[in-house]
Amino acid sequence: MAEHIDANRLHLDLRYRFDYLSKFLNFTSDDIAMLNTFAPLVFPLIPVISDTVYRKLFSFDITKQYFLIRNEGFEGFVSKKQCGITLDSAQMELRKDMLSMYLKRVLTQCDWNDTFLQYLSQVGKMHTNQAGSSSINVDYIHINALLGYLEHLLIDVLCNTDAMDEKTKRGISTAVNKFFWIQNDFFTMHYLRSIKDNTTSRKSSRTNKTTKCCWM
Ligand code: HEM
Repeated sequence: MAEHIDANRLHLDLRYRFDYLSKFLNFTSDDIAMLNTFAPLVFPLIPVISDTVYRKLFSFDITKQYFLIRNEGFEGFVSKKQCGITLDSAQMELRKDMLSMYLKRVLTQCDWNDTFLQYLSQVGKMHTNQAGSSSINVDYIHINALLGYLEHLLIDVLCNTDAMDEKTKRGISTAVNKFFWIQNDFFTMHYLRSIKDNTTSRKSSRTNKTTKCCWM
């Protein structure tokens, strides 16, 4: 018999959504253990990975622009114009640190508790227009591309490792892949919400009704 999944609850309850995705993708505690096994291999390379990611984002004007727009907190020591922002500037070093912390947290998390799920969701949400003043409004096309690129960088680390048997390597690569699809969902759910809100606000400006966002 098919397991019942409540469509409304998927949109209201992050844990419920994650449980459904986990069952669908067969993401289990074994996958979490595989990510944890991968951590010591990735850690020494995190500065390089982070640098490579930002090099990629700075290699296109369309992705670089996001880092020129949002620079609150840095005005004290960088010019307002931000034309000269480089990969080594203070704000970019801070951003690289944020990505490093994200990777470390994902790979070392043993217990995927609600706080962690909310962190993954919050990272997704802040890239949309749904996070109030923290919103950075990155178009989804770039998120998708970077998720693919970042996954590829991690898989490369795995492939270049000799000190690991093939079975563990396979387990890690499967776990990494599942993780990225879960993280991708935790981005897209906010983007879809944003599209829905836009459509609803267009409709409600005609019908004078409003809707409430349910995500944290
Ligand atoms: C693989 C997909 C991505 C991941 C995992 C990711 C991760 C993160 C994380 C962890 C933060 C810091 C969040 C915090 O404040 O705690 C962040 C901030 C940010 N991200 Fe992303 N990001 C991704 C894609 C992108 C893309 C494609 C762009 C732009 C093209 C982008 C632009 C930014 C910007 C501008 C910030 C704000 C930095 C600031 O607060 O100054 N991100 N991202």
